[in-house]
Amino acid sequence: MLKDYLQELEQHPTPFFAYDLKLLRQTLQQVKKEADKYNFQVHYALKANTNSPILTEMVAAGLGADCVSGNEIRRAIESGFSPDHVVFAGVGKSDAEINFALEQDIFCFNCESSHELAVLNELAAEKNTVARIALRINPNVNANTHKYITTGLEENKFGINSWELPDVLKQLQQLQHLRLIGIHFHIGSQITDLSAFRNLCTRVNEFQEWFLSHNVALEHINVGGGLGVDYYHPEEHPIPDFEAYFSLFNQFLELRPGQQVHFELGRALVAQCGSLISKVLYIKKGMTTNFAILDAGMTELIRPALYQSYHKIENMSSQLSEDKYDVVGPICESSDCFGKAVMLPETNRGDLIAIRTAGAYGEVMASQYNLRDKAQAVYLN
Ligand code: LLP
Repeated sequence: MLKDYLQELEQHPTPFFAYDLKLLRQTLQQVKKEADKYNFQVHYALKANTNSPILTEMVAAGLGADCVSGNEIRRAIESGFSPDHVVFAGVGKSDAEINFALEQDIFCFNCESSHELAVLNELAAEKNTVARIALRINPNVNANTHKYITTGLEENKFGINSWELPDVLKQLQQLQHLRLIGIHFHIGSQITDLSAFRNLCTRVNEFQEWFLSHNVALEHINVGGGLGVDYYHPEEHPIPDFEAYFSLFNQFLELRPGQQVHFELGRALVAQCGSLISKVLYIKKGMTTNFAILDAGMTELIRPALYQSYHKIENMSSQLSEDKYDVVGPICESSDCFGKAVMLPETNRGDLIAIRTAGAYGEVMASQYNLRDKAQAVYLN
């Protein structure tokens, strides 16, 4: 429980991110246990959190790395991920990033367009090497999640659409510096309705058939990430249901002998271990509500402002009777609000406030708008 660490939390200048490494380790043990049942390979999607102590835990747990920039690849390798467990995804890889990844001889480039294939082939040719690639296919599956984090619909910029595949296969026959080893999918993030993944499996099976009918054998299928977490009940559900998640893929994916399945999980691994810890600066009476004004804002955690997303807010200091508060940050933007009409114990200046489930897409998306200082990270053991 986060409350168990209260004494330690009270010692640090706010705002800061607190990471519960014990919970992280338990989460990683669980994900490994469930994935190993089916020999599934899990890559950690670095974009969720790139802090070195977190990456060290991922390496120790034996995960691979899913990177979306040259700097993420560099950070992954420096943190101990072996390049042959690094994949490089992204719709807009720059030449410098591609060259760096080629020099590191990473496991696989997940390619998102015919134009990217041509450029990658050219750069690999210049280095007289062959790049292993997977085609990221847009499966047109609805993930039923927030529209900003839906990626697998034809209207989205991601992946190669199914009608382009015949031309892409023809193109690949000409590209001598690419070797097709897999196909890749990712339909979105914070997916809590597992039936979206079941629909993905059905589409993957259809694509597999299509590739086989064109005499292309694929060594691996990468089904992306996207497993959601329980933002409403971080204490009751600190670890996602990996058992149900992996067993669904085991049940519904039709694999060919020797084929590997890869996953790219970000949020499900790190969201619950992180909290944004802040102090109340002021209480202000509004027309209909009280404002609790914190020293943390959208510069530390932009998710509520950007996606209207819910994060549980806890007053760790007060045991008084409850009242309603709009919990806001200090930034000059009306969207700088962590929650409206939140029921909290009577809240006063100096109270310690925890904004939960902030381990994924929290610190990595922080900005220094208003020339704010960068919030520090504290690791709880
Ligand atoms: N693989 C690919 C190709 C991705 O685009 C993503 C996330 C992942 C894996 C990891 O997805 P996860 O398992 O974490 O859902 N900033 C947003 C989330 C953006 C996700 C982008 N792609 C948020 O705060 O909700």
